[in-house]
Amino acid sequence: MSQVPFLPEWAVDDIDPNVASMARIYDYLLGGSHHFAVDREWSDELERMWPGIREATWANRAFLRRVVTFCAEQGITQYLDIGSGIPTVGNVHEILANLGVDARVVYIDNDPVANVISQRLLADVPWASAVRKDFADPEGILGSDEVAGSLDFDKPVAVLLLSILHVVGDDANPAAVIARLRDRIPAGSVLAISHFTNEGWTADQLSELLRMSRETATPGRPRSAAEIATLFDGFELVEPGVVRVSQWRTDPAEGAEDSWLDWIGGVGIKP
Ligand SMILES: C[S@@+](CC[C@H](N)C(=O)[O-])C[C@H]1O[C@@H](n2cnc3c(N)ncnc32)[C@H](O)[C@@H]1O
Repeated sequence: MSQVPFLPEWAVDDIDPNVASMARIYDYLLGGSHHFAVDREWSDELERMWPGIREATWANRAFLRRVVTFCAEQGITQYLDIGSGIPTVGNVHEILANLGVDARVVYIDNDPVANVISQRLLADVPWASAVRKDFADPEGILGSDEVAGSLDFDKPVAVLLLSILHVVGDDANPAAVIARLRDRIPAGSVLAISHFTNEGWTADQLSELLRMSRETATPGRPRSAAEIATLFDGFELVEPGVVRVSQWRTDPAEGAEDSWLDWIGGVGIKP
């Protein structure tokens, strides 16, 4: 892997520029500008295994837009976006602004670059904020000044977990963390998840993917559709359930693609 001779000004505090991070990998795949050679090399290797990966990342962003639009149509004005990533285009607060929704948004990510770029983007957006916290620490998220100071947990909240949980290992017990968040939000709140599934992969591809994942700062694993569905325990899945993200309430005018087998998602409402 290439060594980084000097760090750009956005490479704050404890970054190791020689270890790939999912935030920067995803930024690269989406055509952003905050990544190192190690992230590009990792992504290019993944793309050789999975030529549809760039289209899949865009399909996930389109899923995010449809999910936020759905939540806004339910009257939800509070959004907790965990694993929000390095901002590119179509961030949650921008989707809501385009919809004309008067909302509150808090972005959570444990990646330092994601956090610093989010904070810069939001400097002039008083109704949205970003804080560096870890999904595995729900108390830290809920107790942060940004969340406690701007979200009212007596009113519905949309908790967005898009493309984060496949880089969260089982040791962090995602189901228990989601249960903790679920217990804190009132009826009418929404949980949205998108996730790599292991179902489109051969055993060899899967073991190669897991090997690559262990090289990153954010090792995790794809999960089966059944495992992903159980993460919605305590929520009622809305139609069409847990499906490929490209097929979740897609506008026929968008021309839904059928080729992104490996990235699935859904939305549940707390009864
Ligand atoms: C692939 S990006 C997804 C960005 C955005 N949610 C989307 O779907 O377009 C995954 C993000 O999750 C973040 N992440 C991974 N593990 C995390 C954790 N334990 N706590 C908080 N964020 C995490 C990464 O830093 C990265 O920015």
